[in-house]
Amino acid sequence: MARPVKSIHGEWTSRWAFILAATGSAVGLGNIWKFPYVTGENGGGAFVLVYLLCIAAIGIPVMMAEVLIGRRGRQNPINSLKSLAEEEGRSRLWRWLGGMGVLAGFFILSYYSVIAGQSMAYIPRTLFGVFEGVTPDGASSIHTALVSDPERLLAWHTLFMLITAAVVTRGVQRGLEKSVRVLMPALFILLVMLVGYAANTGEAFTRGVHFLFDADFSKLTANSVLIAMGHAFFTLSLGMGAIMVYGSYLPRKTSIFKVSVTISIMDTGVALLAGLAIFPLVFANGMEPGAGPSLIFETLPIAFGHMPGGEFFGALFFLLLVFAAWSSGISLVEPIVAWMVENHNLSRRNATMLATSVIWLLGLLTVFSFNIGQDWTLFGKTAFGLLDYLTANIMLPLGGLLIALFAGWMMKKSSTAEELAIGNGVLYYFWLILIRFVSPVAILIVFANLTGLLDILNK
Ligand code: TRP
Repeated sequence: MARPVKSIHGEWTSRWAFILAATGSAVGLGNIWKFPYVTGENGGGAFVLVYLLCIAAIGIPVMMAEVLIGRRGRQNPINSLKSLAEEEGRSRLWRWLGGMGVLAGFFILSYYSVIAGQSMAYIPRTLFGVFEGVTPDGASSIHTALVSDPERLLAWHTLFMLITAAVVTRGVQRGLEKSVRVLMPALFILLVMLVGYAANTGEAFTRGVHFLFDADFSKLTANSVLIAMGHAFFTLSLGMGAIMVYGSYLPRKTSIFKVSVTISIMDTGVALLAGLAIFPLVFANGMEPGAGPSLIFETLPIAFGHMPGGEFFGALFFLLLVFAAWSSGISLVEPIVAWMVENHNLSRRNATMLATSVIWLLGLLTVFSFNIGQDWTLFGKTAFGLLDYLTANIMLPLGGLLIALFAGWMMKKSSTAEELAIGNGVLYYFWLILIRFVSPVAILIVFANLTGLLDILNK
């Protein structure tokens, strides 16, 4: 199977269009909702350090690999991997790596949409002053009231799936570009404002900063190291083909190295700002950093409920958060839709309808896991907990491992060097060492550590 010169789905109009779209994919609930709560649950500083190391040593090289595979293959992840494997004289079984990514997309978006729905529900709540002068207990019971009502959660989840489908139907290059260009910077400014607000908490701010940046390694377990690594994949949208499919619309001339570094820095910056805004509030209000997935929905409203103009800023914040989640959600469906269109001859519209309907149905599991299905557990996790763990901590790192092996070992050096076009110099070899050895070995060690394999070997 020869690979096309251009994607049938069109191209980005410029390098910036790709950077914006990929940043739109990367920056989302992962940065603002998930990063603070997993950091809180895993003890703070040491966890953050491992996460940052994973971004630098695994995330950036794997992102470069995904973009390069996508741009060279010019199709959906399954076909790109298949045609590149053929071209390099490797097994066609590599297409299954793309298949696992498509499956991960279904799973992730199913719960992502429910959390995005909760953020949407917070727009009217903040706007109409529901949180005015709210206490920590009050904020927590408002959130509980929302999630314990399956009908309300379902309605917001449905709305989020509809707006996601609306963009994907039109093709991601149109529309997405403009919205990201304005809304991302706005979100960034609002976050900086929130950090400014948090800085006024005095001693609590200092505690928040220490919590985020003082590494106490005694708090780190094998499982938290896995969660930190899994989160690095999740937050950069890596390991399932989202960035790969965006790469397939990337014009030839763009430097893959520059765009990957830019995206990673912006994404990490947003996460750290979110942490700096939220932890001081946690400490100033005597709340628990390890409160779990409800953390931002219980802390931020307290700030909005007490600041001047809080209704406006609060509603704006949740609106921008929904936009950030929207551009991420789109990137989770795009690989699925591109695959259905290319391989199963569906129109873009029908493919989008089919994919989003299945995801919507799957989302019911998450909707119910906060209320009537709270007790439906497996391995001590609810359906939502299980979907999150399986995707972020297992499927994405496994996908990343295989992507690294494919780009590092299956593709010829001449092919990857040509695609990366960073010359055959130091930078190329730096990437090659990271993708061939550092990333795969690090991922394998984290997996082995988790299964207790390393303990057995030590004996
Ligand atoms: N990175 C997004 C966030 O942080 C979520 C996301 C979008 C994603 N596309 C993805 C996660 C692909 C994993 C894989 O919110």
